Amino acid sequence: MAKTLLVTGGAGFIGSCFVLQRVLGGDTVINLDKLTYSGNLENLKSIQANKNHIFVHGDIGDEKLIKELLEKYRPDAVVNFAAESHVDRSIHDPDVFVKTNVLGTEVLLRVVKDWWKDLQQEKKEAFRFHHISTDEVFGTLSLEDPAFTEDTPFAPNSPYSASKASSDHFVRAFHETYGLPTLITNCSNNYGPRQFPEKLIPLMTLNALAGKNLPVYGTGENIRDWLHVEDHCEAIHLVLTKGRVGQTYNIGGKSERTNLFIVNKICELLDEIKPLGAGKSYKDQIVHVTDRLGHDFRYAINCSKIEKELGWSPKHTFEEGIKETIEWYLNNPEWVKNIQSGEYRKWIELNYAGRQ
Ligand code: NAD
Ligand code: TYD
Repeated sequence: MAKTLLVTGGAGFIGSCFVLQRVLGGDTVINLDKLTYSGNLENLKSIQANKNHIFVHGDIGDEKLIKELLEKYRPDAVVNFAAESHVDRSIHDPDVFVKTNVLGTEVLLRVVKDWWKDLQQEKKEAFRFHHISTDEVFGTLSLEDPAFTEDTPFAPNSPYSASKASSDHFVRAFHETYGLPTLITNCSNNYGPRQFPEKLIPLMTLNALAGKNLPVYGTGENIRDWLHVEDHCEAIHLVLTKGRVGQTYNIGGKSERTNLFIVNKICELLDEIKPLGAGKSYKDQIVHVTDRLGHDFRYAINCSKIEKELGWSPKHTFEEGIKETIEWYLNNPEWVKNIQSGEYRKWIELNYAGRQ
């Protein structure tokens, strides 16, 4: 049955993919987004004229606005993507991570809980608050460690992951204390179209095409588990509609790769699709630079819970997904040009100029 969803952060990379899927799937989406540097209405261009998508410019920490939206639209669920999402930015300035990820999430939870508690029984029981989180809350693994399960203790190492872990605890506490019907999903590294080019895959792709250095932090042996954003959003919808209340579910791509593997793969694909000629390869642009502070070595997700309980598994293989993703960046030069604005250039200067 079609639902009304209040989605936060739906102009960002993952949120916009979810909004596109849900609006095309027949749901109505109220999309609340602050439009920070990574929020981009161009991500939602294809549903601009769709009556089932209502965009609201605002902050998850704005109590009055959240209350008005709940009363006006009476959503069946709130899905919270809104966050500061980049580890390197959290190292430079943790403050805004606490403001949005911790304090903002608490405000959202509290206002939703106050509205939800007076709902009529049937609507109250069917309501869901779904919080989107990360595998980074579990800390780091060695090569030999088993992958993270839902029971792995939290051990966040960066200001970003500490703020996400804190928000997860608040969501859990609102379920345990007030009975708010919550769901949490902890996913691995996403990739796909429309990702802000501060993250590894779009950064390396766009730097390669621009003839710039490909800055691998440290040895490049660090491992991430890559999940296609469309597989992730399908998993979120499944958990939202069929997941057990109060539970957390891990979502992973079953694609552990080292950073060096990823960067080499991007270069090989670009060498095929857009050859440089004269025997040159994009690999010549790879440089090793000063490592990230507190750099987590490995993340890996055991997603057997969602597979067994809900029958989900990722549809994209990494090899197909990465090729499609690189082609998307090549085929969308306007999106790329607009996003590489003044703010983006400032960030590149701040994060990379001081690295040897
Ligand atoms: P993103 O940075 O692309 O998008 C974040 C969105 O939230 C932006 O549209 C931004 O404008 C909005 N936003 C920020 N602060 C806000 C506020 N105070 N109020 C309202 N909106 C605000 O991030 P993403 O990659 O799409 O990540 C979405 C969620 O998924 C985040 O919660 C992130 O922690 C989580 N996550 C991301 C990844 C990944 O690989 N990208 C992995 C695991 C978990
Ligand atoms: P990133 O995309 O920032 O995601 P996360 O830190 O949340 O996993 O980084 C992915 C990996 O790539 C991580 O190990 C850091 C590394 N990396 C680089 O080597 N160079 C870069 O310029 C960036 C942005 C990341």
